[in-house]
Amino acid sequence: MKARNLVMSEFDPEQNAESIKIDESGEILKIDWKDGAKSRFSSDWLRFRNPSDPEARKIRRQVYLFPEDTWDRAIIEKRLKKVDFHQAMVDDKALHDFLEAVCLDGISILTGAEPGKLGATHFGRTFEVATKSDASNMAYAHNNALPFHTDFPSLEQPPQLQMLHMLHSAREGGNSLFVDGFHVANLLRHERPDVFRILTTTTLEFIEEGFDVHEGDDGKPRKFEYDMCARHETIKLDQSGRIKRIQFGNAMRSWFYDVEPEKIQDIYRSLKIFTNYCYDPKNILKIRLEEGDTVLWANTRLLHTRDSYINKPEKVRTLTGCYFDWDFVKSRVRLLRDRLNLPQNQPSI
Ligand code: OGA
Ligand code: ZN
Repeated sequence: MKARNLVMSEFDPEQNAESIKIDESGEILKIDWKDGAKSRFSSDWLRFRNPSDPEARKIRRQVYLFPEDTWDRAIIEKRLKKVDFHQAMVDDKALHDFLEAVCLDGISILTGAEPGKLGATHFGRTFEVATKSDASNMAYAHNNALPFHTDFPSLEQPPQLQMLHMLHSAREGGNSLFVDGFHVANLLRHERPDVFRILTTTTLEFIEEGFDVHEGDDGKPRKFEYDMCARHETIKLDQSGRIKRIQFGNAMRSWFYDVEPEKIQDIYRSLKIFTNYCYDPKNILKIRLEEGDTVLWANTRLLHTRDSYINKPEKVRTLTGCYFDWDFVKSRVRLLRDRLNLPQNQPSI
């Protein structure tokens, strides 16, 4: 691992320079320190790290792979990244481009794989999405359209990314719909500051209580029970006021509001307006996953849903999925940038 050798216990922030010079080439800054140490900095090194240059700071912030811009339908329909699955498996640049698009657009698609089998992905623990008659989760319960939601608002740390792979597509419908929650939030910030203020300052409580049936350790179906509860602002901001996270799922919204009762109706009004913005066709990306297609998206940025569907005879619409966290995905993107020496690569220490 690349690491800094200087330890903080020996670091002297009061150290002064004995002399500061630029060498004859004009390209090297030479500092001799009072304790005898010497530092030499190239102009490239200094320019890249120049804290008084807003552009240098902007470039450095790109290392976090946080989206600078958001999308509506017209934008994402033009630039939605689709990468051939087999190519991504053998070509690091293709893999990089797929994962980079997930970071910046919050969504990207792998096409052209052979449809997998249930439980047969490389990604560890997976889940299945299909119609089940005994289901407690409404996503599994019927073929009607679902409402826009993020998965698992009932968790303190909801999964940051979600992957779904289409095993058996529907005969009709069952399209995947996405809306950029960061975009909707930014629209509200400008067009409905009253709504934006309520959604960024009020926490909503979410509960998911019930059971799923999955394969147990012994390979036999087992009932897994849960009772999850957490609360979140619908739109979560960071210290600088930038939108950081979206959490919403009306099916999981609980009865409890930790506010004066007079404020509750305005919360409902705000959620209604937020939902109207999500359903504005100008904001919605609609795609149909073919068998073998895989979509990876930012669960705490995009809201997602699917429309209603009719199954093929004898084949129930079935997807398999799993969750990821950003840190692993972003680490891979930086690693690939370094390995391929891409222009976006940045120095570590
Ligand atoms: C879900 C869900 C999407 C789909 O189960 O939460 O969003 O395409 N499913 O079935
Ligand atoms: Zn979902």
